[in-house]
Parts: sequence; structure tokens; C-alpha cells
Amino acid sequence: MNKIMVEKSPPLRGNVRISGAKNSALPILAASLLGTEDIILEDVPKLKDVEVICEVLSSLGAKVEFLDKGIIKINSKDINNYETPYELMSKMRASFLVMGPLLTRLGKTKTSLPGGCAIGTRPIDLHLKGFRALGAEIDVDHGNIGAYADRLVGDRIYLDFPSVGATENIMMAAVMAEGETIIDNAAMEPEIVDLANFLNKLGADIKGAGTSSIRIKGVKELGGATHSIIPDRIEAGTFMVAAAITKGDIVVENVITSHIKPVIAKLREAGCQIYENGDKVRVIGADEIKAVDIKTLPYPGFPTDMQAQFMSLMSVSQGTSVIIETVFENRFMHVDELKRMGADIKIDGRSAIIQGVDSLMSAPVKATDLRAGAALVLAGLVSDGVTEIGDIYHIDRGYDNIEEKITKLGAKIYRV
Ligand code: EPZ
Repeated sequence: MNKIMVEKSPPLRGNVRISGAKNSALPILAASLLGTEDIILEDVPKLKDVEVICEVLSSLGAKVEFLDKGIIKINSKDINNYETPYELMSKMRASFLVMGPLLTRLGKTKTSLPGGCAIGTRPIDLHLKGFRALGAEIDVDHGNIGAYADRLVGDRIYLDFPSVGATENIMMAAVMAEGETIIDNAAMEPEIVDLANFLNKLGADIKGAGTSSIRIKGVKELGGATHSIIPDRIEAGTFMVAAAITKGDIVVENVITSHIKPVIAKLREAGCQIYENGDKVRVIGADEIKAVDIKTLPYPGFPTDMQAQFMSLMSVSQGTSVIIETVFENRFMHVDELKRMGADIKIDGRSAIIQGVDSLMSAPVKATDLRAGAALVLAGLVSDGVTEIGDIYHIDRGYDNIEEKITKLGAKIYRV
């Protein structure tokens, strides 16, 4: 079963509960390698990527137990292996996040060059710059990367780009380094804050997460904790766009609205009525979707992980919109797929110019990365006929039960 069929659907209506954030669960699971007592994680989303990183943790000697829905118990007291298996690394770039914790716990780590989405060559130079600054020797041979350090000593590290992964990896490598580490131009995403909160519960001493300067004071050892993963702001944004594109009326539940301000702002500019009420957001789509411009930026700017979904919406807007992707250099692969469905889009470097059309038409298309897959589902909801989406393993990596959730809202979508 690796195709999703999406029929033209009526306006979506009803309530949908958002799952825990993938991009918080993955670094926090990696950080569980730092604890020496029981760790209980709650609200963990049921995703392929979560399964993969749990396999990585087990291969390193951690005990990983899936308790009832969304709860995982980890104990990393006896981790004994510092090499991650190639076949797991090649599946997902985020496995690379185990390097920082292993370097700290075992003084050495060896892994293969990260795989993951095809959204551009995703280098790791900033991760390695941080490890070197803390005193690690790095060696690269035959596609493997090794980092070794008898002791890690805190330092001041400037990130040329506020990389989410590099900020996370360096933070995890610094929690037991001697002295103080400061990360300047750090990423400020909510997932960084969630990771820092989790590490502090384990006994770390981290201040400033969520700002561009994070200070980490090294401690001797980290213990255990219970932690609940924050809601997935990108899943929430995806369902909000689903309401907009089908001119529906959806209440998205379990949302931290301060995490999705740019998406709320842009959907309002596009004509949606949006009502925030605690951890619920109601989105009522407009009959006429206005064309708005967006530029993706590191947090708190418009998230790159919402770019493809928004492009689907702009494909059926009244007017011309410009989408500029500043975070990744090749995150427009969904454009060709949307054009097969009748969208009128021209790419000029990092900009895509979208001329809204009255309606899209179904066509066999392929998910090129997990957010592009979601964008194609959204486009399929408003396309004449049945849209067949291939390579949906990308979607399963990032969305917890998307068909079930979207079917409950009235969409006609099924897997074949
Ligand atoms: C995280 O990826 C997310 N993944 C991505 O989500 C998200 O798109 C991205 O952050 C940006 O918000 C996880 O959290 C698991 P980066 P990451 O390091 O850490 C360059 C999704 O859809 N860079 O912030 O890999 C890099 O080339 C996924 O859920 C360097 O130059 O992103 C890119 O252009 C997709 N050197 C930019 O920074 C480095 O050492 C942003 O990358 C590292 C990154």
C-alpha cells in the first residue's frame, strides 16, 4: 500500500486534535541517551521517523519500551555502542542528532553521513564546527563521520546560520562539558525550547533557549524525567490550510497559538476568519482566496515546513503570489507535481510565482518530501477527479494518521 487516493472533497468541517511535534520528539528521543535513569515521554506522535530513531537508540544499547498510546519509556544507563548502523542513518537525517549525546556520554561517536529528505544538500558543517569548538577531533572517511573527545570543554560558538539541528546537537554535546558554552545566532524554534526544558528536567543547566543566545553550564551527570512533547505546529498549520483551501470550517485542537502566528497572519491575509480560543483555533475558509506573498525564514518567521502547503492554497487563489524560500536551496520539488495538476507556477531561483487558477485537476503525482506530500493531499481535496499520490512513505514519516484525521473532517481519501 503505497498510494493515497484523494477525491474532490466537500468543505471540511469538524474538530481535529493535533499530535505531538515530530521535530521535538526526534531531538528529545536522541537526548534521552544522556539520561542515566528512567525517562518517560508522553504525547509522542506515531510516525515512521520516531520508530527509526527508537531503533537507533536500541542499537546503541538503550532500553526502549512502547507503553500505551503515545508513551515511550527509555533507559540509557547501559548504552555501550557508539556507532550508529548505516541502514538506519540513511533513512533519516535526524538520526544524526545522536552524535552530540554520544560524544558527551561515551566520548566518541561514529555515524554515516546523514540521509533524509531530498530538500537540498543538507550539510552538517555547523554541527561539526560546534563539536570541534568543544574539543572533539573529527574524522571523515568513506562516508562515515567520527567525533572523539576525552573531555569536552565549554566554548563560545557562533552559528553562521541559525540551524535547528546544529543548535540541538551542540546543546546536547555541551550539557556535560566542563565550564560554560554559549551558542550565538542559535535557532529559536519552539522545538529548541522543548528540548532545553527536557534537558533541564534531566538535570542540565541551560538558559536562553528560544532566544538567539543559549548558555549551557556543564553538569556532572543527567538523571531521568517525565516529559510531554509539545504539539506539532506544522501539522496544525497543515490542517488550517485544509480548512482554507476547501472553504471549510475546522477547529484545530491542542495547539500553542504563539507557535503558529505567521501561519495565522497569512491565512487571515488570504481571507480566512480565524478565532483563537486557548489551545483551539477555529479556521473558516473564505469563498474567495486572496493571493498573498510569503517568505520563509527561521523562527519566528514563516516556517519553511509550511511553504509547500501554502503553495497549494495559492495555486487556487484569485491573483498572483510570490513565495520565497530562504531556508533550503531546493525546496520547490512539489512545484512540478502541482503543475501536473494544472497549477500555474514559475520558478525564478529561490522565488516561485504562482498565478491562481479556478480549479486544479487530478493527476498521478509523487510526494517528493514529507511536506510536499501534504501539499499534494491538500491540492487533491479541491481537484476534479481522484488524485493518486505515490511515494507516500514521506507522508507517513511526518504525519500521524493523516487519512483518519482528514476523513473525519469529511475528506474522501484512502490508501491503496
Ligand atoms: C530541521 O531540519 C527540521 N527537521 C526540518 O523539518 C526543518 O525544515 C528545518 O529544521 C528548518 O526549520 C527536524 O527538526 C528533524 P537546519 P534541520 O539545520 O535541522 C543549512 C520537516 O519537514 N545548514 O535548520 O536539518 C541547511 O543546509 C523537516 O519536518 C548548514 O548549512 O534544518 C539548510 O539550508 C524538513 N549547515 C538550513 O541550514 C549545517 O551544519 C536549515 O537547516 C546545518 C544546516
